[in-house]
Amino acid sequence: MIEDLKKSLDSVNTLSELNEVKAEYLGKKGYITSLYSKMRDLSNDEKKSFGAKINKIKTEATDLVDDKKKKIETKILNEKLMNESIDISLPATEIKVGAPSILEKIVEDIEELLMSMGYDVVDGPEVEKDKYNFEMLNLPKGHPARDAQDTFYVKGDELLLRSQTSPVQVRTMLAGKGEKPIRMICPGKTYRRDDDDATHSHQFMQIEGLLVDKNISLSDLKGTFDVIAKHLFGEECQTRFRPSYYPFTEPSVEMDISCHHCKGKGCNICKNTGWITVSGAGMVHPNVLKNCGYDPKEWSGFAFGFGAERLAMIKYDIDDLRVFYTNDLRESRVFDRKEDN
Ligand code: DAH
Repeated sequence: MIEDLKKSLDSVNTLSELNEVKAEYLGKKGYITSLYSKMRDLSNDEKKSFGAKINKIKTEATDLVDDKKKKIETKILNEKLMNESIDISLPATEIKVGAPSILEKIVEDIEELLMSMGYDVVDGPEVEKDKYNFEMLNLPKGHPARDAQDTFYVKGDELLLRSQTSPVQVRTMLAGKGEKPIRMICPGKTYRRDDDDATHSHQFMQIEGLLVDKNISLSDLKGTFDVIAKHLFGEECQTRFRPSYYPFTEPSVEMDISCHHCKGKGCNICKNTGWITVSGAGMVHPNVLKNCGYDPKEWSGFAFGFGAERLAMIKYDIDDLRVFYTNDLRESRVFDRKEDN
């Protein structure tokens, strides 16, 4: 009987053929099942040995059928895999990856550098009090220098969109309560009523820096600026100060870097001067220290304010700052690639 089953199974190729054979032997009306009914006519002793025999045959037959089933299933699977095989030589669809914004990169770069020099990165509100944006920075109402920062007022003449990140100096000094030395930078958005063009934007980004301690002098500012400039533009980058005016610093300076384009020889980027201005800065004005609770006889400090777009434009040779705000991914990818090369 088992031999017959084996023979039948040999000629089976599909699952439905297998089911037919299975039914023939093991089904309700199958051969093996029918053997059980034969037991009725046997004596008790005979029943025992006959029953054991049928059980053995049934187990063997079931194993043979299961075994065949597995073989057929494996065969089907293999055939399927063969037909579905992937052509790995076909060109794949390009997955478009994003790239970090150039502005963010510059900011993070400066943040990391200054944090390694002990500076804290702090934040301040974009909707600011006139008092912090101007008054406590030595710019009382009616001060002519306010005109240079054509400001968006939010409510009356007390609340405004900050026109510079310098109010964060005030907030940080007030929090230091005239006791704590300060090293902070604050990158952030600033707003002015400028018409947008290649070099102006009504919203732009500044990176403010402030250091307050004992015995701080202009040479500390120069050294710090030199480290930042070389970090951003390479070891050969030269720096210089030019006298300037800001109400909240005394003395005030413009900080220039040597033009990395023409290496200081003169070109259209540096307007043939060999130098490019990248930041306003100076020694914190005694009035500002006093306004913010620091005794100018005891404490001194320096402050600086970089324009992030300007730094990015110089570093990546961008001639129109609107690319930072038009969200065209192609631009950031191009600059990202430039960076890698
Ligand atoms: N806040 C100035 C501006 O927006 C830039 C600046 C100049 C910041 C001198 C400073 C500074 O901290 O010391 O034009």
